[in-house]
Amino acid sequence: MKEQSPFDRFFDEYNEDIPEKHFPRCSISAEAAEAIVTSETWADAKPAMNLSSFVTTFTESEAFEVAKKHYLKNYIDHDMYPQLFAMEARMVRWLHNLWNGPEGVEPYGAATIGSSEACMLAGLAHKWNWRKKRQQAGKDGSKPNLVTGANVQIVWDKFMRYFDVEPRIAPLKPGHYRFTSEHLDELVDENTIAVVAIAGQTFTGEDDAFRAIQNWLDKYEERTGNDIPMHIDGASGGFVNPFLYPNYKWDFRLPRVKSINASGHKFGLVPPGLGWIIFRERAVFDEDLMFYVNYLGGEMPTATLNFSRNASPVAYQYYNFIRLGYEGYRQIMQHTLENAQTLRQLLVASGYFEIMNKTQRIPVVAMTLNKKYKNFNEYDISNKVRERGWVLSAYSMPPNAQSVNSLRIVVRPHLNQNAISGLAKDIIHACDWLSKHCGNATPPKLHDPQKVAPSKC
Ligand SMILES: Cc1ncc(COP(=O)(O)O)c(C=O)c1O
Repeated sequence: MKEQSPFDRFFDEYNEDIPEKHFPRCSISAEAAEAIVTSETWADAKPAMNLSSFVTTFTESEAFEVAKKHYLKNYIDHDMYPQLFAMEARMVRWLHNLWNGPEGVEPYGAATIGSSEACMLAGLAHKWNWRKKRQQAGKDGSKPNLVTGANVQIVWDKFMRYFDVEPRIAPLKPGHYRFTSEHLDELVDENTIAVVAIAGQTFTGEDDAFRAIQNWLDKYEERTGNDIPMHIDGASGGFVNPFLYPNYKWDFRLPRVKSINASGHKFGLVPPGLGWIIFRERAVFDEDLMFYVNYLGGEMPTATLNFSRNASPVAYQYYNFIRLGYEGYRQIMQHTLENAQTLRQLLVASGYFEIMNKTQRIPVVAMTLNKKYKNFNEYDISNKVRERGWVLSAYSMPPNAQSVNSLRIVVRPHLNQNAISGLAKDIIHACDWLSKHCGNATPPKLHDPQKVAPSKC
């Protein structure tokens, strides 16, 4: 048997309050429990300095009060909390309007746990619609595929695997990280349930080529008669584009766009736990996907993947919408974007970096280290600035641009100019130090994160 390390022995034998392998046997006081939970997380990152995440890390105290008041409510219990349900329905109409949904239709959508759940619901709706059409035409409905770019967030890989949809993925190439119409010829066919394009992609923050994709699909329909819908993954862009670029057509103004998701907990400015799925109209979401239950009292429709959930994020989002309005969101997004541009300029001026996002819509700065620096890399920089508390993502790009590493900074609304210039200084100091002393980080291999590279010095 493997010999126990002193750590294992400590956790097994002495630390009865927090046993490692069995359920805690005894009670402790509330104060002790609170102190233990707090101290166990001391070494974790500070959320406000975690700029690898898109998720909100700031709250107004009034919004926090709203969250606390609804914290002990189960959102799904619409019969008990009909006003919260009414808020959700109103916000669905507001978002349908914000994203330029057509007039004269019944808007439909839902608040979800995040964009991931929203994307799954959109994918299911398109799968259902495709299959129904195939069945009505007497055609095989067993081989659905979904077409998208290699720059999609992992949720779409999950959707395709979990729900048996064949992935048809357009590759990227170094220097080109957007999904365009370039590969659609090889990917789209009569079994394509939808084409997914992103507004504010995870890797570089850029938007995919919506217009070119739609034009290609229009021509394809003329040729083949196959009418293929588009879904826009606006996890980040959904709460930036409407406020900063009102004339830019990324949304339901493109006739092929039948559904859009966004993360309320990213630039919607709600703490973690809220996403949105909005359909062009009610008819896009097949009635077969709707369930009606009566076990919480009263008949209740449910069409989300999760059932019980906390009501706070819904109330919080409502607070933000009425508190900020269009003008408030516009101002916040404007100042956040300006901060991203400042950071981008400072870092480019340092000579250490080349910018990866040619367009700057959402406030993300994605950079790759200038090729002349051979003795350290983006992972080293990420490790080095962590000493100052900042968390920045370093990663290799998806296929076929894996040869490129990225250092990505999500500039969020809580950062002011002072924090931005401090961050820029810290990154440049890290580069100065590394260029003198060398780095030794290698890209962690997926599923093999333990391997450490030989030093490059
Ligand atoms: C483009 C995109 N889609 C989907 C998601 C998943 O969103 P969530 O974390 O809200 O589930 C993300 C998360 O970063 C994203 O960037």
